[in-house]
Amino acid sequence: MHLIEFHNFYFRYKKNKEYQLNEINLKIDENKFILLCGQTGSGKTTLIRCMNGLIPQFYPGFYRGYVKVLGKDTAEAPIADLSTEIGIVFQNPENQLISMNVEHEIAFGMENLGIPREEMEKRIKEVIKLTEIEHLLDKAPFELSGGEQQRVAIASILVLEPKILILDEPTALLDPSMADKIIKLLKKIQTEKNVTIIISEHRMDLVVPYADEIILLDNAKILEHGKREEVLNGENFQRLTINKPVIYSVFTTLKSEQLYKEKIPASIDEAIRYFQNYK
Ligand SMILES: Nc1ncnc2c1ncn2[C@@H]1O[C@H](COP(=O)(O)OP(=O)(O)OP(=O)(O)O)[C@@H](O)[C@H]1O
Ligand SMILES: [Mg+2]
Repeated sequence: MHLIEFHNFYFRYKKNKEYQLNEINLKIDENKFILLCGQTGSGKTTLIRCMNGLIPQFYPGFYRGYVKVLGKDTAEAPIADLSTEIGIVFQNPENQLISMNVEHEIAFGMENLGIPREEMEKRIKEVIKLTEIEHLLDKAPFELSGGEQQRVAIASILVLEPKILILDEPTALLDPSMADKIIKLLKKIQTEKNVTIIISEHRMDLVVPYADEIILLDNAKILEHGKREEVLNGENFQRLTINKPVIYSVFTTLKSEQLYKEKIPASIDEAIRYFQNYK
């Protein structure tokens, strides 16, 4: 069974004439780090809203086909049930933080699920260490910086032990060094907890080095979904007008000048390895 499966899925918001998701077929498997990319307005946030039932249950509109999360149809399963399998951090985490202090914010979801106190304490201890927010527990969410809020939002979802964690532009409000820290943290969470993480992100330089797979969304359609190496070396990626990684642009130029013939590296480390072997 796939963690997430879209089958011939179409959706348009009630007010719109055109479909915002068009003939979507997509399968997401366990323990993957996945980059979701596409131009602004291509449908990334809309696709993410389908993954926990917000679409079609919360956003009025028309749909065809189905989306299943761990075998449960997202049009029918209660959103609260789906939320225990799949945690989503939307773009402005402060809208998601509702408690008066961070510790309660993290405990809140578990209290609703009736998780025993001992187990709650164990999980809280573990996630605050992983996300490095021990020093923030007594603070109110509105007293935190964007990066700190992002960490708290991630921690409050991780304690629920979802199998899938989705982040919609997690670095949009962060400076480059905090953005880098958050992405590295997410990679660490993925490998330590064996969860699948899907990140929609415009700053591709940050995510591509860690991604296992890339999904390209273009004008409401899945243009391609595959292993990072295949997508990066394909024509679809080249054609899309998105903010490509610097290393990608350098190596495609080298290729077009016939100075480089190998696969395009996904990171500086990969490029270095190539030149070490080349000597
Ligand atoms: N609540 C809504 N009601 C009506 N139309 C919407 C709604 N949300 C998004 N849309 C439309 O759906 C299309 C896809 O938007 P979406 O937000 O999914 O794109 P995106 O890829 O996430 O863009 P960005 O990179 O700017 O976040 C756009 O044309 C947008 O105007
Ligand atoms: Mg979006």
